[in-house]
Amino acid sequence: MSILVIGGAGYIGSHMVKRLVENDEEVVVADDLSRGHRAAINDKAKFYKGDIRDRSFLDGLFEKEAIDTVVHFAAYSIVPESMEKPLKYFDNNVGGMITLLEAMRDHDVKRIIFSSTAATYGVPEKSPISEVDATKPINPYGESKLMMEKIIHWADEAYGIKFVALRYFNVAGADPDGSIGEDHGPETHLVPIILQVALGTREKLQIYGNDYNTPDGTNVRDYVHVLDLADAHILAIKYLKDGNSSDVFNLGSSSGFSVQEMLEAAREATNKEIPAVVAPRRAGDPDSLIADSSKARSVLGWNPKYDDVKEIIKTAWNWTQKHPKGYADRK
Ligand code: UFG
Repeated sequence: MSILVIGGAGYIGSHMVKRLVENDEEVVVADDLSRGHRAAINDKAKFYKGDIRDRSFLDGLFEKEAIDTVVHFAAYSIVPESMEKPLKYFDNNVGGMITLLEAMRDHDVKRIIFSSTAATYGVPEKSPISEVDATKPINPYGESKLMMEKIIHWADEAYGIKFVALRYFNVAGADPDGSIGEDHGPETHLVPIILQVALGTREKLQIYGNDYNTPDGTNVRDYVHVLDLADAHILAIKYLKDGNSSDVFNLGSSSGFSVQEMLEAAREATNKEIPAVVAPRRAGDPDSLIADSSKARSVLGWNPKYDDVKEIIKTAWNWTQKHPKGYADRK
């Protein structure tokens, strides 16, 4: 049987595919390549190009391949873009999930691991945030992911499709071998932007606001390495295969770093000056998001290996230096 990775050409999906292939799993990738890169998909995985909102595409795939588990990364995930284009987010993220679950129901595929997000919590009531805390998203992206979680829950109740929803905090870093990494167009994420400045392909970092309710006034986030995240998915697959019930888990390092602290860590990791200026706040940003990941550790047995943001940044810097244009040189 094969594992279907939807969105396997994207940043996190491509790291997951590589990890699965290294574990000798049979892997099928589906991706519409609207945001992902063909060159990011591991050579040992089978690839189907298509959109999960296209039911006939999914039917064709499930008929040809013996899939027993789906890992779903194919959602839009940019907070500021979702503030400007909310319907685009609900269409792709929520619409895609409904079509996918219908196809899974009809083809008798009973397991799904799904990328959820810390953005489901909105402005947290306490820190660190645990899975039982209130979910009140403050942007359409977070709202769409929360809706997806609720939809899967009812699909489980009605059709027995078991799920694990993984609420990621801020994912960063790259495979240390430098073969795959983060490449969004346009780039909006903090770590790759800082590293573009370090490389000299971007003039300076804009720090979006220094008047937040945090120790140095800049937003605090919880950064987790992309390979630690991939490992959590592998444990989640095992958790479902062992017959456990559907559940939701936070994935973060449980420590927070401000934008200013990330900048300083990157200056040390790269040995570059990295010019930065304070700019106005960006829409949709909560002050601080820090995970309580104790449930993933105790229930899934997750043991993240990267506990130092400088080490996380170094793996991303390795990729950035090897591929200054991202995947553009490999298409
Ligand atoms: N930031 C800057 N300047 C930049 C880019 C980002 O100051 O040029 C700041 C942002 O304002 C934010 C922090 O850096 O405070 C991190 O921003 P990112 O865009 O890297 O990440 P987000 O926190 O907005 O969102 C990420 C993922 C989401 C996920 C969320 C959960 O993109 O999918 O983490 O914490 F939901």
